[in-house]
Amino acid sequence: MKKIKILILLTILISCGGNPDNNKNKFEYKKIEKKDDFLDKKSKETVIILNSNDLMKFDKNELRVFEGQKITLTLNHTGKMSKEIMGHNFVLLKKDTDLNDFAQRAMLARENEYIPNGDETIIYTNLIGGGESDTITFTAPEKGSYTYICTFPGHYGLMKGILIVN
Ligand code: CU
Repeated sequence: MKKIKILILLTILISCGGNPDNNKNKFEYKKIEKKDDFLDKKSKETVIILNSNDLMKFDKNELRVFEGQKITLTLNHTGKMSKEIMGHNFVLLKKDTDLNDFAQRAMLARENEYIPNGDETIIYTNLIGGGESDTITFTAPEKGSYTYICTFPGHYGLMKGILIVN
């Protein structure tokens, strides 16, 4: 009787020992498949909501998208102050832009809502005040990191972030 019991126990151990490995391999394989699906779906378009406020802050300082994605970005100003006092915009800069030089020229471009002449920008929103929003649509540029700022005088030190394109 003892021998039979041991044999049964061994059989159970072997069958249990075999399955988890198989399951593990299948699981990892499926996981990778799902990741690819995710990338496919994400590669067409994406929506970004970026909030700004009376405390001179964006609520996100890192945005992630995929190369070639159609991006719809809405900038909200959740504060109450006017755009003459606490105006905000979202200005996305080309890769090699000299940030300090650009921001200083922007500060002087009041008549153009603080967008200076030149070709350093990829896209930008209107300047908005408390309670306002602006939405822009653009295609994600080539892979890399791109700086975005608010160009209202004195804001870019705090209102700055990175758009990461994968
Ligand atoms: Cu601002």
